[in-house]
Amino acid sequence: MSHPPVIISGSSHPTLAATIASHLGVAVGRVRFNRFSNENVKVCVEENVRDRDVFVVQTSCPPVNESLMETLILVDALRSAGAGRVTAVLPYYPYVRSDKQDEPGVSITARLVADLLATAGAQRLLAMDLHSPQIHGFFRIPVDHITAISVLGGALVADTPGERVVVATDIGEAKDAGRFAHELGIPLAVIDKRRVGDDEHAVPQTIVGDVRGRHALIVDDEIATGGTILEAAELVMRLGAASVEAAAVHGVLSGRAVERIRASSLRRLVITDSIPLPEAKRDPRIAVVTIAGLLSDAIGRIHRGDSVAHLASRR
Ligand code: R5P
Repeated sequence: MSHPPVIISGSSHPTLAATIASHLGVAVGRVRFNRFSNENVKVCVEENVRDRDVFVVQTSCPPVNESLMETLILVDALRSAGAGRVTAVLPYYPYVRSDKQDEPGVSITARLVADLLATAGAQRLLAMDLHSPQIHGFFRIPVDHITAISVLGGALVADTPGERVVVATDIGEAKDAGRFAHELGIPLAVIDKRRVGDDEHAVPQTIVGDVRGRHALIVDDEIATGGTILEAAELVMRLGAASVEAAAVHGVLSGRAVERIRASSLRRLVITDSIPLPEAKRDPRIAVVTIAGLLSDAIGRIHRGDSVAHLASRR
């Protein structure tokens, strides 16, 4: 395609969209959003997108359902305006954890979102660190599933003195955490979680691997309420770690997560800007690294028809 890509921003994360556009040397495409008194949304594409390669940058954050509906209307409006190809760039995928029927009678909503995106007219998806690999398979359109592990790794390299160890929050996370450990060149330990009695909630029991006297770095795909990472942090400290910090790609930080982090043994939490961090959730212990460079690299490659294999997640 001879023209540069067109970057269009939804309402959820304009800062990320603007930084991606600036990396690509283009301006964010003009779109007007209106919300009527009956809460209906109107999207008007004011940019000439005829036959152009368009990338819609939208992430899932509150108000989640509104952002999702806006994405669908935006994609539909771009197709109506004659866009050549529309790629949905969704760094944090909507309903990512609703990826299986974990009890009878529930919707696999991540699959429904895939169907809705394709119906709206998205011809490609660029996603990052999806909660589970099966989400990729929910799509009939091409999906580029990339990982921000190297971006997080870059922020954590060698600024902690002494011996370090990467800790996976459970067996399921061991593969990803293992790649992270490999990237940083440090050993891996894995938390063994067990259900106690009739309790539905699996509790960290012990760790396979050695954390004693080491600086532990807990790795997870997302931090929501903080329960998983903070329980893991308390366990590694009980088992004699010298200090504990954590890294998660998606900083959902819902409910009382930030308060709980402030009251915990966690020395530092590193997250990416896949989700905007509101002022009220900022804290000196929470460091945010940007994925704008990673996404703009992926968008540039998709636009040119180049491979993104080296950025791909192997989840
Ligand atoms: C679970 O499978 C995920 O990898 C995360 O551990 C989970 O989403 C974190 O949620 P929370 O912070 O609420 O424990």
